[in-house]
Amino acid sequence: MHTVQPWLVVGGVGLCLGVGGTLHAAVGAEHVEAGAMLYHERCSPCHGMDGKATTPMAQAMAPKPRDHTDGAYMNYLSDTYIAMVIKKGGAAVGKSPLMPAQPDLSAQQRADLVAFVRTLAVPPYHPQ
Ligand code: HEC
Repeated sequence: MHTVQPWLVVGGVGLCLGVGGTLHAAVGAEHVEAGAMLYHERCSPCHGMDGKATTPMAQAMAPKPRDHTDGAYMNYLSDTYIAMVIKKGGAAVGKSPLMPAQPDLSAQQRADLVAFVRTLAVPPYHPQ
């Protein structure tokens, strides 16, 4: 009658651990997960699966795609700014036009991407 469903517990843990290998706040984990899928689809050709921008394609670019694990740089960018770079592209913020505008993404998808990009930073990102 009152038994805990073991698969529920296992499922929950699996979801948390699936997030870039880090145990991030359970709140928003599904956003990070959704962001990770979008990132692998849309960003990894240039920024790399690991965010370090060491792909052959990245090496061929000048300037190089941003290393998203570079917390010393990334942690000073606001969520609003990152979401805008994704939507409007590098050129709109005075950066390289090689960073493509992606206006087809919804506000939620951009927020999910920001949530995922935040998990890559070393040192880790802490919201102000
Ligand atoms: C075609 C290659 C390419 C793709 C695809 C791409 N980027 Fe970029 N991205 C770049 C380049 C090149 C830069 C460096 C721009 C500069 O420093 O002038 C950059 C820079 C950035 C920056 C840093 C902006 C800044 O102010 O320094 C962020 C954040 C970013 N990209 C996020 C993303 C996200 C998220 C995605 C996927 C939705 C993505 N990029 C897809 C090439 C790409």
